Amino acid sequence: MIMMVANRESTNMTQRKLLLAGNWKMNGSMDLVQQMAHALIQQEKHPNVTCALLAPYLFIPELQQTCQKSDLKWGAQHLHPQPCGAYTGDVNATLLEQFSCHYVLLGHSERRQYHQEDEAFISQQLETLADSNIEPILCIGESLQEREQNTLFERLTTQLQPILTWHKKNPEKPFTLAYEPIWAIGTGITATVDQAGQVHEWIRKQLQQVNETLASQCKILYGGSMKPDNAAALLSHPDIDGGLVGGASLKVDLFTNLVTLCNNCYSSSIS
Ligand code: PGA
Repeated sequence: MIMMVANRESTNMTQRKLLLAGNWKMNGSMDLVQQMAHALIQQEKHPNVTCALLAPYLFIPELQQTCQKSDLKWGAQHLHPQPCGAYTGDVNATLLEQFSCHYVLLGHSERRQYHQEDEAFISQQLETLADSNIEPILCIGESLQEREQNTLFERLTTQLQPILTWHKKNPEKPFTLAYEPIWAIGTGITATVDQAGQVHEWIRKQLQQVNETLASQCKILYGGSMKPDNAAALLSHPDIDGGLVGGASLKVDLFTNLVTLCNNCYSSSIS
């Protein structure tokens, strides 16, 4: 039984659609692609709810084939910033475009930690996206230590810099942000609505300082152990425009429940 969580139609939250993006990380199978894609394609979605699967590269052709005539979107978790060349094992934006990827994740904390991807690298990745139709979803978020030492906003300011610079050069290009506190990723500990809401409001203010249109249009997702039992509260916050979901996007029942919770944010909700 899923509760009504909020009514985005009755507030000024209407400009931004909700995005629920599943980040499969290095998980999944061809079977799961089929099961998840078919369940999501069949599930009715409110027109303001977009759903996407960000899968390992190997599953992207299958996702494209299964989802191309549906409202379900797909994308990748990484891309190499060079347009082509001798980069064994890497995949660039041109290749992702051949499989009609809608989104690519940049700056995920696992990429930052295990692949030393920093703001300079992310700036190069963004540069290569300027000529593509792939929308970046930039992940930002602080460690527990940064939160405890009260340096979280400093950290987030640094992490936002590449996308704000890119936006100035490419104002017509949409992008999405995902606030993912590192201490909440894969830990089962979710940020409270107050904790996440405070950061989302702060991010929105940074966007406002660039311009009002950007602030009102840019989606800011929450990520970090989002599940059906905590998502309703998070989605009720006016500055939380959906979720970047890891673990719960690998289970058909959990992810489809999250879609239902997104639908329920609208009064003309689908049961
Ligand atoms: P989680 O992962 O939902 O398993 O915490 C979220 C993410 O890393 O994008």
